[in-house]
Amino acid sequence: MEMETLRTECLGCTRCPLHETRTNVVFGQGVEDAEVLFVGEGPGQNEDEQGLPFVGKSGQLLDKYLFAIDLDRTKNCYIANIVKCRPPQNRDPLPTESEACMPWLREQFRILKPKIVVCLGRVAAQRMIRSDFSVTKEHGVFVEKNGVFFMGTFHPAALLRQPQNKPEAFADFVALRDKIGEVCSRTYL
Ligand code: URA
Ligand code: SF4
Repeated sequence: MEMETLRTECLGCTRCPLHETRTNVVFGQGVEDAEVLFVGEGPGQNEDEQGLPFVGKSGQLLDKYLFAIDLDRTKNCYIANIVKCRPPQNRDPLPTESEACMPWLREQFRILKPKIVVCLGRVAAQRMIRSDFSVTKEHGVFVEKNGVFFMGTFHPAALLRQPQNKPEAFADFVALRDKIGEVCSRTYL
């Protein structure tokens, strides 16, 4: 419920210039008691059109990986983005845009109180884990901060361009399944 109040507020946000070119705010999708939070970088064209995160080709790939480890965005996890409005031409969000948008993600984090945060791609991992995080070198490694486990892995769109990384990405999801088994109480009920 609290999340729906926050969503309603966010849908009217004009805190950064990305509001001028958006079709829809992509607030996030998932269950309000999620213990596992996925964070992408920002909406693409399909997401902007539908108002939902990861609904294009990369979203189909993400859903496949989720399904493989018994996660489902409508049942036991939550998907959000660093910026909620689509950057033109799918460019990376500017630092000023990410900063302007972070309070929304912080509120989502406060409501969910996730046990695990999975960063999808460099932009999310560098914002959420460490500003010099390398997905190539550090993917699949869990780091604990204040009792929450953070992990960065390949962005699904990057996997579509570089399918040779899919086995490593899949191994990250297997490691995620194990970590969920260790630290989550509701996710696999
Ligand atoms: N890529 C992202 O980072 N987020 C989405 O929601 C869709 C594609
Ligand atoms: Fe607001 Fe975030 Fe959209 Fe910018 S990207 S207008 S801060 S919701």
